Amino acid sequence: GGLLLAATAGVQAADKKITLGFAQVGAESEWRTANTQSIKQSAKEAGINLKFSDAQQKQENQIKAIRSYIAQKVDVIAFSPVVESGWETVLQEAKAAKIPVILTDRAVSVKDDSLYVTFIGSDFVEEGRRAGKWLLDNYKGQGDVNIVELQGTVGSAPAIDRKNGFEEVIKAQPRFKIIRSQTGDFTRAKGKEVMEAFLKAEGKKINVLYAHNDDMAIGAIQAIEEAGLKPGKDIIIISIDAVKGAFEAMIAGKLNVTVECNPQLGPQLMEAAKAVVAGKQLPKRIVTKEGVFPMEVAAKEFPNRKY
Ligand code: AHR
Repeated sequence: GGLLLAATAGVQAADKKITLGFAQVGAESEWRTANTQSIKQSAKEAGINLKFSDAQQKQENQIKAIRSYIAQKVDVIAFSPVVESGWETVLQEAKAAKIPVILTDRAVSVKDDSLYVTFIGSDFVEEGRRAGKWLLDNYKGQGDVNIVELQGTVGSAPAIDRKNGFEEVIKAQPRFKIIRSQTGDFTRAKGKEVMEAFLKAEGKKINVLYAHNDDMAIGAIQAIEEAGLKPGKDIIIISIDAVKGAFEAMIAGKLNVTVECNPQLGPQLMEAAKAVVAGKQLPKRIVTKEGVFPMEVAAKEFPNRKY
């Protein structure tokens, strides 16, 4: 009898639905909306019970959500950390509760990398380099090139890395200069507001806008038009994500190039969650594959875009 009971228990354990607690950054951009959709849909498809929370771009909310997942004894916790630092304590709490943590999209900076199982996401430094490389290869004008930069959320991995990657490449040609750099918090509204301030301060001196995401570029395009200038012509615009809104702007001739950052991390996350519950070893880093899309290919590529 005992043997049969044990065997039944084993079968039940294997069949048990995995509960995944996911602490999302917020809903700040088109990218983020696509990311959330991907996570929700792939959880459904994978038969995973998803608990989802939106931190409205605030670390304290994310920490609260993670603590509540620990209290609820979920099987796996995943999150996209709004900023890089300040995670040790809550990650130690998860570890003490023996709940594995998977990072998606954004990295954390912690000394002890046993605090998470794996990090699934893009190489943001490489995205910054691609943006810089496109500029050096395609900029037509002579003389000094004055660049304004709209940074992502202060302290976030994509803002730090995209800045570094871009600077690393453009410093090869000293005529390319970043004359102003400020955060637009990855939103359209903030991108517009900060671009207005840049235009007020620098006016026609601005040759190039480098925005850390498409939404800020789209907000800035509005500011540029309202200032009576032509986005994509008077000011060359480079951004990152490659969401549909960026393709529409490129087709309209207002955005020059977007560097892809893939938000569809859901399927890889569900696979990783299943693997970790099954006790499998995972690589510490899972990188997603991405491209670069200049204005000239926008109309042809548009129908193929999934986000
Ligand atoms: O972490 C990825 C970044 O976050 C995206 O590039 C940006 O659009 C989002 O808000």
